[in-house]
Amino acid sequence: MTAMTSDTVLTTTDAALDTAGLAVQIRGLSKRYDERWVLSDINLSIPTGSYLTLLGANGAGKSTLLHTLAMLNPATSGELMLFGKSANRPSPGLRARIGVIGHQPMLYRDLSVMENLVFFGKLYGVSRPAQRAAELLERVGLADRASSMVKTFSRGMIQRLSIARALMHAPDLMLADEPFSGLDVPSVQAVSELLRELHADGKTVILTNHDVRQSLELAQRVVVLRCGSVVCDRQARHTNPDEVTREVIGS
Ligand SMILES: Nc1ncnc2c1ncn2[C@@H]1O[C@H](COP(=O)(O)OP(=O)(O)OP(=O)(O)O)[C@@H](O)[C@H]1O
Ligand SMILES: [Mg+2]
Repeated sequence: MTAMTSDTVLTTTDAALDTAGLAVQIRGLSKRYDERWVLSDINLSIPTGSYLTLLGANGAGKSTLLHTLAMLNPATSGELMLFGKSANRPSPGLRARIGVIGHQPMLYRDLSVMENLVFFGKLYGVSRPAQRAAELLERVGLADRASSMVKTFSRGMIQRLSIARALMHAPDLMLADEPFSGLDVPSVQAVSELLRELHADGKTVILTNHDVRQSLELAQRVVVLRCGSVVCDRQARHTNPDEVTREVIGS
């Protein structure tokens, strides 16, 4: 089912060899909504410390796959392993290792920035959550807004705060669904720098994106989904953006 090219990296065969050192291992994963298959026989092995972008047209299945990886949306069939452990069913131990940035900011609008971060920190058992929150606010450039209500924030500020929220428990795997969507140029730079720092810290970063050139610049590896199947899986370096765009469009 999967149409891969000769440049394909880390195929199912690799996955079958060894689970050590893999943040994510997906074998034969499919997802059906009612009678419609929206993910078909996905096979991916993603080593710990990778930076991977999922590309694909609207409806290709990117968010569905990301939610499955986050254990928020179980697959219909197939196998998902995270850090060498089965993740077919939600596991609190594995959840604690994942940070999610989704379309919904998962923030309380009527609480202050600091109250939000401390709340999430306590939820994840973070020791000294206020201190951790202050450090992260510094990192995302919101240190001077700690006492502001979230409802007073712009889209870009909410996105930065969502990242701080997702980082509160120092996750090993960051899953971000279109983290640059709707952001201005400085915010795009700030968010991409934060993701780059996470990757430099040895964390695994997986995001969805629509910008092929940006993805090839930021990520080490790009995977294209089309109609729920992986049609292209490349190392970003030396990959021609036009070629990837053709895979996205299916021309
Ligand atoms: N809760 C749901 N119930 C039924 N169908 C769904 C549901 N969520 C997603 N789908 C379908 O699954 C398919 C993939 O959707 P998904 O949101 O994963 O696409 P995407 O690649 O993230 O698209 P976009 O670029 O627009 O965000 C689409 O056909 C969509 O209609
Ligand atoms: Mg989506």
